[in-house]
Amino acid sequence: MTGVAWSPQQWRLRPAAQQPVWPDDDELDRVLKELAGLPPLVFAGEARHLTASLAQVAEGRAFLLQAGDCAETFAEFSADAIRDKLRVILQMAIVLTYGAGVPVVKVGRIAGQFAKPRSSPTERIGDLVLDAFRGHMVNDDAPDAAARVPDPHRLIAAYHQAASTLNLVRAFTKGGFADLSQVHLWNQQFVASSEEGRRYEQIAAEIDRALRFMAACGIDLVGEQSLHQVDFYTSHDALILGYEEALTRMDSLTGDWYDCSAHMLWVGERTKQLDGAHVDFLAGIHNPLGCKIGATTTPDEVVALCERLDPDRTPGRLTLISRMGAGAIEDALPPLLEAVRLSGHPVVWACDPMHGNTFASDGGRKTRRFDDILAEVKGFFRAHRRVGTWPGGVHLELTGDDVTECLGGFGDILEGQLHERYTTACDPRLNARQSIDLAFRVAELLRA
Ligand code: PEP
Ligand code: CO
Repeated sequence: MTGVAWSPQQWRLRPAAQQPVWPDDDELDRVLKELAGLPPLVFAGEARHLTASLAQVAEGRAFLLQAGDCAETFAEFSADAIRDKLRVILQMAIVLTYGAGVPVVKVGRIAGQFAKPRSSPTERIGDLVLDAFRGHMVNDDAPDAAARVPDPHRLIAAYHQAASTLNLVRAFTKGGFADLSQVHLWNQQFVASSEEGRRYEQIAAEIDRALRFMAACGIDLVGEQSLHQVDFYTSHDALILGYEEALTRMDSLTGDWYDCSAHMLWVGERTKQLDGAHVDFLAGIHNPLGCKIGATTTPDEVVALCERLDPDRTPGRLTLISRMGAGAIEDALPPLLEAVRLSGHPVVWACDPMHGNTFASDGGRKTRRFDDILAEVKGFFRAHRRVGTWPGGVHLELTGDDVTECLGGFGDILEGQLHERYTTACDPRLNARQSIDLAFRVAELLRA
């Protein structure tokens, strides 16, 4: 940054893509003032801890698991749903920790993932053409025109739901739910539950042996604090800039600005314009950042994004999340890996194998094939092996519920079954079994 100090409001001078057209600016201002007076959801020190953990990933000494809903909703907000989502992520993390042989940094798309960028400002439902659903932070998904009008009071509701969710996440991850032996037991149940699960018997047995080895060495598996608690961080797409601005606070310790709506914020494929408002906003806050990278992104563009978002070359500051599609990644990713390596930016590279593999099924529902998701992850690993960089992590859309939204995988969901339990408010998510199945496969890739 040159000369004049950055301010959380200055994004307003730049073009901001994907912002709702709020019906009443005065009401919006009142709401944003109220939000600015509410307590922060996270603390700057926590965000710094996450940056330090991600620095380990950047150096190839840890692996990132970032996962959760495509869109959290006001409707699906229960302790059980949060617990089940967390449980799947913890189960995956143990499998990945064993596979990678390094710590797994756990970041949820949770406690704030309420806003969605859209490819089209309208959508057709039957004969109706409606304003697009933009996430429950903005409007409602019901198929009628009134529901789609943006309502700023939803920003306050999103803040409160994020606060309750985060409270529960903290309780679960620090209060015993994350117990290593317990989570391992859930994985053993998964393995024993079917023919496909038994494919992973060997890894599960090895983890079991490792635990017994630790106990035999005198490590108290019951008493040892680090085996009962995990660090779990929150993240979301920093899409609605008024909301993010209102939660941005100056850290009293360092004098730096932090967006205290989440530990990590990312900028999406549709909002990452170099001169746009979103990049300007993220450049000013000191949280660790993510930036989605689609298949058409050029090496120059990626390096320019690194310069804007990580000018000081701070390890762990920037995670580049490629989302290219299984068919494109092996050609599109290596030149970007080379360019960033040459530029000297110490980024984390993570693979989002979801957003480049979405298509409409015969019945018109958005879906993704488990095999395409896996193929993109494999392409990601191959690209990194070729260039000599570290495949730092995965970024996934999943739920703990037994939904039928993605095809194939564990339980082999077929097109004709999609309607059975299709509850996502936006993109199709992996269900619990598909997620754990994927974790075992990524663990195999990490060990190869
Ligand atoms: C998302 O992560 O839900 C999303 C919309 O991603 P992208 O910006 O990569 O399309
Ligand atoms: Co999505």
